[in-house]
Amino acid sequence: MGMQSVAVACGALTLCLALTTATNPGFVVRITQTGLDYAQQQGIAILEKELAQLKLPDFSGKSGKVRYSFSRLRIPTFRLPHSRITPIPNVGLQVSISNAFAELDGDWRVKFLFMLPVLVYVPVCDNVAKSVQNELQKQVRTLPVTARIDNKIGIDYSLVAPPRATTKSLDVDLKGEFYSLAHRSPVPFSPLPLAFPSDHERMVYFGASSYFFNTAGIAYHEAGALVFEITEAMIPKEARFSLDTSLFSAFIPQLEEMYPNMPMKFRVSTPTAPFLTIGEGGISFQPIVDVQAYAIFPNSSLAPLFLLSLTGNVSAVINVRSGRIVGSLDVGRIRLSLKDSAVGTFQVTRLSEGFRLPLPDRIQLSNILVRFHQNFLLLGADVRFQPRR
Ligand SMILES: *[C@@H]1O[C@H](CO)[C@@H](O)[C@H](O)[C@H]1NC(C)=O
Ligand SMILES: *[C@@H]1O[C@H](CO)[C@@H](O)[C@H](O)[C@H]1NC(C)=O
Repeated sequence: MGMQSVAVACGALTLCLALTTATNPGFVVRITQTGLDYAQQQGIAILEKELAQLKLPDFSGKSGKVRYSFSRLRIPTFRLPHSRITPIPNVGLQVSISNAFAELDGDWRVKFLFMLPVLVYVPVCDNVAKSVQNELQKQVRTLPVTARIDNKIGIDYSLVAPPRATTKSLDVDLKGEFYSLAHRSPVPFSPLPLAFPSDHERMVYFGASSYFFNTAGIAYHEAGALVFEITEAMIPKEARFSLDTSLFSAFIPQLEEMYPNMPMKFRVSTPTAPFLTIGEGGISFQPIVDVQAYAIFPNSSLAPLFLLSLTGNVSAVINVRSGRIVGSLDVGRIRLSLKDSAVGTFQVTRLSEGFRLPLPDRIQLSNILVRFHQNFLLLGADVRFQPRR
């Protein structure tokens, strides 16, 4: 009976990634060497914890004149000082492990006590591989392949091409397509090619293409989500006017006669889904917007007054907060074609709730950069892994 420390050597393990048919991605994820190094550190910390709780199978055998049996084995100490995950161009990721050190603790019995050259390579390595695999699978399972955004809209983050490894990073091409949960119809345009820059200073990068945003436009439009109301409550105090029929009396005298001093509201909707373009200068689009004006009776029922159609330039402000892309639309001042009737700015509240990025749970982003490229928005970030409590 006794305790024994054993050094265990495991070789290199290469993960080759399966092929699927290729098409332009709507969303690209890049993990750089810095990101892989961070993932490796975090992975080992998890592995050390898992292995400390692992119960190894009892085993016995015979080697020459030596009979041995091991039972109640545990691994209280496990170190991987020289492991590294590296991208191998055109292959995938290589996980190399050398000089792994494990302390094995348990009961062992050896008959014909010779010097004992203990080489316990098979069962230990197997369990290490299993633990790595289990943790990877757990993480991969939390990756949102299709994610629900709300009860009407989903987003498809499935792979469209095999992940590409270069010497500095692993790029993963995803579909990045929004769709209606009730009825998914084919998208009437194709994703454009993205010239992803060779940036690799941050741990991860995301490329969100115009396809990504335009499929969002279609899905939200079809879900009836792109309808807003402009009411008295939204007029800024500084504007010093009320949204009522007297406001229009100079331009539409019959309005005052028919509906004297009655409050008004506008219902803004999009007859077609908005279509945006992304260039190096930013995101812009020219939505066609219908504005229906109503007078509000004291009993709250509405009298339709007139319908305006207007086109304006909209620029989008994009940022990332807690793993979500959030946006706000600046529509500036809406100019009604009747005359100078500014109703101030408003924000698209639904967009400010954000879209979930294809990240596993417990991943937080920091040090975020946002840059515009032709046809896509580039986001770079460093990653922090939140350990399970
Ligand atoms: C509300 O008031 C208007 C004007 O007095 C009237 O025409 C309309 O029928 C009323 N609607 C309801 C639901 O009572
Ligand atoms: C909209 O954008 C176009 C092109 O940038 C510009 O020529 C036009 O003046 C803009 N219109 C408004 C109302 O800002």
